[in-house]
Amino acid sequence: MKNQDVTAVIALRGWHPAISHTEAVYMFPEASVKRTEARRLLVLQGNCDWSRANLMSGSECVLEAGGIEKWQSIDALLNNIQAINVQNMAVECWRHEGKLPVKTKEIEKRVGELFHNAGSTFNLNNPEKRFGVILDNSAGLVAWGWMTGQGPGKHGWSAMRANKRPFFRPVSIEPRLARAAVNIASGITNGCILDPMCGTGGIVIEAALSNREALAIDFDPVMVEGTKENLAWAGVAATVLRGDSTNCIIPNNVKAVVVDPPYGRNSMGQKGLLEDTITNIVRQVGECRFVIILPTEAVGTNLDEPVKTEFSHPLLTAIQAFEIPVHKSLGRLMIIAEAINK
Ligand SMILES: C[S@@+](CC[C@H](N)C(=O)[O-])C[C@H]1O[C@@H](n2cnc3c(N)ncnc32)[C@H](O)[C@@H]1O
Repeated sequence: MKNQDVTAVIALRGWHPAISHTEAVYMFPEASVKRTEARRLLVLQGNCDWSRANLMSGSECVLEAGGIEKWQSIDALLNNIQAINVQNMAVECWRHEGKLPVKTKEIEKRVGELFHNAGSTFNLNNPEKRFGVILDNSAGLVAWGWMTGQGPGKHGWSAMRANKRPFFRPVSIEPRLARAAVNIASGITNGCILDPMCGTGGIVIEAALSNREALAIDFDPVMVEGTKENLAWAGVAATVLRGDSTNCIIPNNVKAVVVDPPYGRNSMGQKGLLEDTITNIVRQVGECRFVIILPTEAVGTNLDEPVKTEFSHPLLTAIQAFEIPVHKSLGRLMIIAEAINK
């Protein structure tokens, strides 16, 4: 794709580029979203509200009104940047996947000079606008543009832990996985997100933190109370009910479902449980998107592509699946599926 056809570049975090790519597809449905030679750089064509990048678990930022090309030299990069007069700006340069042979500080200095010469002023502590430059060593690419989103840095998802919440169990889902699942299931549609087996509430917390209506159900009253406690701690609201996911009433404004069923020795009959839960939901709400998170045995470390899945359910069409390594002998499989009838 030529730079004039690129509306924006999304820089992904390193955790799981394939899931983050799919997350971007569902969060920016008005745009075409394509991978580049670099697994952590996506190019987008089309106009969207880029501030949605702030809700994504897998985005460092969107770079707008910029471009992407093979790294040649600082001078070649400067030639491509249209310097304009901007007040209270900052320039940030960072690396992906190893080191291209140039200093990030040198790029920040030279790009800063370019904007200074165009009349810009700088505020490094509290900038109103940030211009980003990313050096991607995996494919020798450089991407640049005005940033929307946090950028790289230490405040990302790795700093968030489910075990910081007042009610924690080893089954608690990782917040960044929960957020990606919620974004994929719900995208930008209105309507309620349902977690029919909510456990400690990891999924509905992310749904509520991203300003969505959410409904949590669990069979176990301890989990119901724990989810309420965790929501209150996070300062967000969702409806939490005790119920059996295989036969409870589902409100018809449910448009997205994220489900992380029980696993391990105590989950006899798990297959039937998930199947019956899906049937119960689809029969009541019809059209909706599911993200299903299942345990798997040891998984590979290919975080770049979807994998094949044998998952099937008579009321669902599987769209994509991803493997997520947890440790040597445990992984997770994330399946995206859509309900095909009532
Ligand atoms: C793996 S845990 C979910 C963990 C959750 N994602 C979290 O972040 O804590 C599965 C949950 O399913 C619940 N469960 C099992 N059978 C159920 C049923 N028939 N209806 C509703 N919940 C059920 C269990 O009580 C358990 O809390």
